[in-house]
Amino acid sequence: MKPLLALLAAWCVVSCAKKDVRPPQVSTPAPGFTLFVSAGVKGYLGPCGCSENMRGGITRAAAQVALAKAFGHPVLYFDAGDTLFGQAQLPAEAVPQQERKARTLTEAMKAMGLSAKANGPLDDAQGAAFRASLALPELPDNQPRTFEAGGFPLTVVSGPWSPSLVEAVSKARASGAAWVLVLLQEDWRTALRNVDDSLEADAVVVARPGEGAAAEENRMLRRKVPLFSLQDKGRSLLRLDVHPQSDGRFELLAAGAETERELKGLDQRVELLKAQVNEPMLAPELLALRKAKLEEIIARREALAATPAQWPAGKNTFTARFVPLESSLPTDPAIDALVTAYDKDVGAMNVAWAKTHSPLCPPSVDAMPRYVGNTQCQQCHADAFKVWGESKHAAAYATLENKGKNFHLDCVGCHVVGFKKPGGVCRIDEVAGRDHVGCESCHGPGSRHAEDTDDSSIAKGDDAHTCQKCHDQENSPHFNFKEYLAKIIGPGHGQPTNATKK
Ligand code: HEC
Ligand code: HEC
Ligand code: HEC
Ligand code: HEC
Repeated sequence: MKPLLALLAAWCVVSCAKKDVRPPQVSTPAPGFTLFVSAGVKGYLGPCGCSENMRGGITRAAAQVALAKAFGHPVLYFDAGDTLFGQAQLPAEAVPQQERKARTLTEAMKAMGLSAKANGPLDDAQGAAFRASLALPELPDNQPRTFEAGGFPLTVVSGPWSPSLVEAVSKARASGAAWVLVLLQEDWRTALRNVDDSLEADAVVVARPGEGAAAEENRMLRRKVPLFSLQDKGRSLLRLDVHPQSDGRFELLAAGAETERELKGLDQRVELLKAQVNEPMLAPELLALRKAKLEEIIARREALAATPAQWPAGKNTFTARFVPLESSLPTDPAIDALVTAYDKDVGAMNVAWAKTHSPLCPPSVDAMPRYVGNTQCQQCHADAFKVWGESKHAAAYATLENKGKNFHLDCVGCHVVGFKKPGGVCRIDEVAGRDHVGCESCHGPGSRHAEDTDDSSIAKGDDAHTCQKCHDQENSPHFNFKEYLAKIIGPGHGQPTNATKK
């Protein structure tokens, strides 16, 4: 097949099923090769879908790799570690689901042509034997491995910052490594403090972005040994296009200053539009309108970022760009099938586990209030109940059922009342009367108050902290207490019953 036809055919495989995805810009493939790097995937196959237009997903990552391959020049894919699990220690009930997920991720990455994978502490949650059972192309610390990309040798080394790492890279150089990528097993701060010109690498991917805000963004530091760190949970990829033209060190090309400014402007518009798309309880027409606009801006950003660089002749150069895996990007049908199979298995697995193990809840303590469920509250607070019934909270469990994810341990906790707490949901398949986000999700366990209404153990729940147990950065990134509160109160629930509408 001609390269152009091959490209369009491959593009079609990943995106023709989806409307409104424009074909990629077709340009003459530049000489050289392309590398993709993922880091800190933390056991994420994809986002939960709790908010509109969430980033991420292994199926979107796979589609990006497939599109690049369609250009006809070599594409290699590496993973920097902390991939298989989200926690270093798993609660017993989560083990079947998390292991199944790690296997699915592994299969997907192999299907993407994974060349090598470094190890982080999160890869070891189930021990080295489990890791070995996955038969991943692992990259042991401080042991350079050389790969061939269209006849060009490129070397990859992983490890924490240490003299051994620096030495391993120097040795690789001395024995002819032409391009060296380091997957540094450190956080961004440690990398900034330590990495200097003694490390003879062309690019360093900092494998552990750190916690909190640090893991939210993609970062690049241009300098002699450029540093990159990726947004975690599989939300972005790093793409490096390498263009060997001569001997000598490779220079990281800047996109034109104007292009960079324009990209930054588009990124800001994307963030702003995402906040507008996620305003609580938007009318469907307005939501559709805003989503269309958002997708348009994302497509513009994609096109601009894909504009080929001007490769200076006779010089060794490379370009770097992050690929945020926005929800409007195409998916890969083969990987979609893997994820669907996982989704289907998990429910049955978790229910089977629940039937053969003791309840998830700790024993209740006599003096402490227990969860009792909405029906008791309704008897005395009919008006509040009515207001609640009109909020989205009253359908939170149905949301999971509609997605076939009500037995997923990753999901159920925030979509029911009192998960793993006395009187709450103590078995994943026994949620009657505790389904949805109920009164006690905000007001706390109510057994004592229901018996004695003077009891002060019922919480007012009128602070942002109450909400943010569930409306956290990941699931509700645009949460705003004032705006959200206004949507859950009404006559008899935080407002006088005879309130006249303003
Ligand atoms: C940490 C708490 C938490 C977890 C865990 C969680 N959710 Fe949610 N979910 C929320 C919150 C909070 C919202 C509402 C977000 C908003 O609108 O700002 C939500 C909303 C949703 C919605 C959108 C509902 C609508 O009205 O459009 C879907 C779908 C959803 N969740 C599915 C899932 C799935 C599937 C999982 C597991 C993969 C999951 N959730 C795990 C807290 C959670
Ligand atoms: C136990 C977890 C939990 C707590 C606590 C919680 N929420 Fe929610 N909230 C959810 C979930 C889950 C959804 C999505 C429900 C659905 O549509 O399936 C949601 C949805 C909402 C929505 C609708 C959002 C939209 O996009 O339309 C509003 C508004 C909201 N919550 C406000 C609040 C406020 C205000 C608080 C605190 C006073 C709060 N929530 C506390 C879990 C929670
Ligand atoms: C037997 C009747 C009864 C039942 C059952 C009951 N309440 Fe109450 N509740 C009251 C009365 C009476 C008050 C105090 C008077 C008032 O302010 O309405 C009250 C007050 C409250 C308050 C306000 C507390 C404050 O500090 O201002 C909340 C919140 C509340 N109830 C929630 C609940 C929840 C949640 C449930 C279910 C677990 C529930 N109630 C069950 C009768 C009841
Ligand atoms: C998403 C969290 C949330 C849920 C769910 C919720 N409440 Fe509330 N509730 C609040 C907040 C916040 C306030 C305080 C509102 C204010 O004063 O601004 C409140 C106030 C109240 C009050 C005081 C009434 C008043 O007008 O001062 C009662 C009683 C009450 N809730 C009962 C209930 C009952 C019964 C349910 C279930 C049917 C329920 N709430 C569900 C968050 C919640």
